[in-house]
Amino acid sequence: MQRTALVTGANRGIGLAIARRLAGLGHFVWLGARDFRAGAEAADPLRRAGLAVEPVELDVADPASIEAAVQRILSAGRTVEILVNNAGVLHDKPLLKLTEDEFAESIAVHLTGPLRLVQLLAPGMVERRWGRIVNVSSGWGSFAEGLGGPGLYGVTKAALNALTLRLANELPACIKVNAMCPGWVRTRMGGAQAPRTPEEGADTAVWLATLPEDGPTGGFFRDRRKIAW
Ligand SMILES: NC(=O)c1ccc[n+]([C@@H]2O[C@H](COP(=O)([O-])OP(=O)(O)OC[C@H]3O[C@@H](n4cnc5c(N)ncnc54)[C@H](OP(=O)(O)O)[C@@H]3O)[C@@H](O)[C@H]2O)c1
Repeated sequence: MQRTALVTGANRGIGLAIARRLAGLGHFVWLGARDFRAGAEAADPLRRAGLAVEPVELDVADPASIEAAVQRILSAGRTVEILVNNAGVLHDKPLLKLTEDEFAESIAVHLTGPLRLVQLLAPGMVERRWGRIVNVSSGWGSFAEGLGGPGLYGVTKAALNALTLRLANELPACIKVNAMCPGWVRTRMGGAQAPRTPEEGADTAVWLATLPEDGPTGGFFRDRRKIAW
């Protein structure tokens, strides 16, 4: 069955690989990008390959942009059934050196933006009695793995993990909410030395986005296996 998906930060890296895989499985994918032109350029080859992909301007750090993107999607007659909160930022400096703008951006991209999207999109999922929400987190957001990473990165990914668990508890069981760590992936964020391809990094997110009814909710996964918060 074709579902409608929205992937944030999908113009490059892991987000683009998630969008490509979901579209390859036959789903309709809104490819979210804060720079519409970058989104359209990323979507073009996929569309030419016959995949159902539509770019949508979406800056997850800007509440007005989130509202406008959701309006755009709804006005196209599409209800989002799969939300992948993938957009991420990493400020490579210690907490004590972070500027106010940098910590505001980390919190907005990893926490308040994903929550706002869920507030706007989950009611449609509840109405249809089917929804999948995937939060692309990181092992650096795991207390069990030592909350690594520079600046607020791990702190805000831990907050995204906490949001995942709270939302899974609040939403009905037909809406599955999970977090995942893609591993260390060769993207602009991960760098050229990373061992994994974006496609490998995308695999667990795509699996969670398409879970069957008896699939897990409220968990944190890497390589399709549960990991500790
Ligand atoms: N790479 C890794 O090793 C690794 C490991 C663990 C977790 N992750 C997580 O995986 C996710 C994807 O990362 P990646 O490695 O693919 O990084 P990436 O190549 O740097 O891509 C990040 C994406 O997020 C977008 N983005 C940033 N701020 C945004 C905003 N305000 N609104 C909308 N989009 C925004 C970027 O858009 P622009 O092109 O406009 O900048 C870009 O599309 C992130 O959540 C990251 O934390 C990555």
